[in-house]
Amino acid sequence: MAASLGYDWIVGGALPELGRHSVAKHEIFDRYVGAYIQTLTKSHRVRELNLTIVDGFCGGGRYLLDGSEVDGSPLRMLASVERAQLEVAAARARGVEIKADFVFVDANSNHVDFLRDLLEREGHGARIGRDIHIVPSKFEDVAGEVIERIRKKGTAHRSLFFLDQYGWSAVTFATIRGIMGALLNPEVVLTFMVDNLVNLLNDRMIGTAGLAAIDLDRDDVRDMLQMKEMRGWKRLIQNTLYEHIQRNTGADYYTPFFIHPDGGSNRDYWLLHLSKHHQAREEMGKIHWSMENTFEHFGRAGFNSLGFQPDQDVREDMLDFGFNDNARTRSEVAVVDQLARMLHARALAGAGPLTKKALFASHCNEAPVIASIVDAALVQLREAKDVMIAAPTGALRRSVRKFDWNDEISLSRQPGLFSVFDRQAA
Ligand SMILES: C[S@@+](CC[C@H](N)C(=O)[O-])C[C@H]1O[C@@H](n2cnc3c(N)ncnc32)[C@H](O)[C@@H]1O
Repeated sequence: MAASLGYDWIVGGALPELGRHSVAKHEIFDRYVGAYIQTLTKSHRVRELNLTIVDGFCGGGRYLLDGSEVDGSPLRMLASVERAQLEVAAARARGVEIKADFVFVDANSNHVDFLRDLLEREGHGARIGRDIHIVPSKFEDVAGEVIERIRKKGTAHRSLFFLDQYGWSAVTFATIRGIMGALLNPEVVLTFMVDNLVNLLNDRMIGTAGLAAIDLDRDDVRDMLQMKEMRGWKRLIQNTLYEHIQRNTGADYYTPFFIHPDGGSNRDYWLLHLSKHHQAREEMGKIHWSMENTFEHFGRAGFNSLGFQPDQDVREDMLDFGFNDNARTRSEVAVVDQLARMLHARALAGAGPLTKKALFASHCNEAPVIASIVDAALVQLREAKDVMIAAPTGALRRSVRKFDWNDEISLSRQPGLFSVFDRQAA
């Protein structure tokens, strides 16, 4: 397991210095809470939003960054909700009530004391025990109670779990399956120190509690160790782990942010977003794209955990990707090609039209794809007269450039006559 990153809070003591990679992480948390509230209050029918935000590894709540004090995740989350509440109130004449509960969990009692003291100093003291709950425990030990608390609040179970663990094994996959299985609308943002695991992996770890926590058995480890002999092993193991996570955590949708700390080549980690709804995945995917070029210390390896290419060295196209700013164009080109091949294969197999939602669901987890990229690819295929897109009523979408999730895509010509393939062959 990863060694402690050295964050330490004690009331009256010096603040810990925030790592630069955590600035990106906090920005993602912050933007996601905002996007979440905006999305769920978009409909004019919504008059209130009942939500629980769980910060399962919350820390003391304040750091030093370049000599200035900055907030940690618990205070960032309180502020994000407050800001979203004001934005929604300004946009909606009749208002929407955001009923958010916050559960801050930390195993270290000094950190919890520090956070409580800070919340009081910041004027949130009266909220403790009301809508802010501070839980001095290991997240694993209280996960069941937290799930129960959310279930008792209502039927929608809207909940965001930020599980910012140090390493990769403090949150068991069984617990994540428990969250996904027991709640209707849960989302998990999980820190996973993938490079730490990949670098450490050796056969002495077989059967240890750490690997058991993430459901890696003897055969899984042996397979991955064999990969260590191969060219491009690191990415190959990352891909295998990513697939393993998808198979074992019980979510339908995934987005991996790949965070690359300054100067550390072996400390890359994933910020995995796990959800059960395509719109949740879409919102996190959009944040991914909007931040791709914002943080130089983050994301340049963004998509390279996916799409293993055996003939390439692990680090080669990371650089290629990072320094090439037309990543979006490249993704669109790739999606046009993949979509054409997929529709072609489906037509040959006699399958019917495909909804945009089904297309997204089956492909988004493996690629940095968001709806606008799919839309752009569909427009290209439609302009090439390769596909037709129709509303569920059957009305053809002849000129729109943005499609609904339930729009149906079908071939407009015989399989084998795809013009995008002709263009590639020429
Ligand atoms: C990286 S710090 C938290 C940072 C915080 N999420 C932020 O972004 O400001 C990790 C925290 O997790 C706590 N911790 C470590 N193991 C834990 C566990 N098993 N359950 C809950 N908290 C734990 C540590 O005491 C530490 O305060």
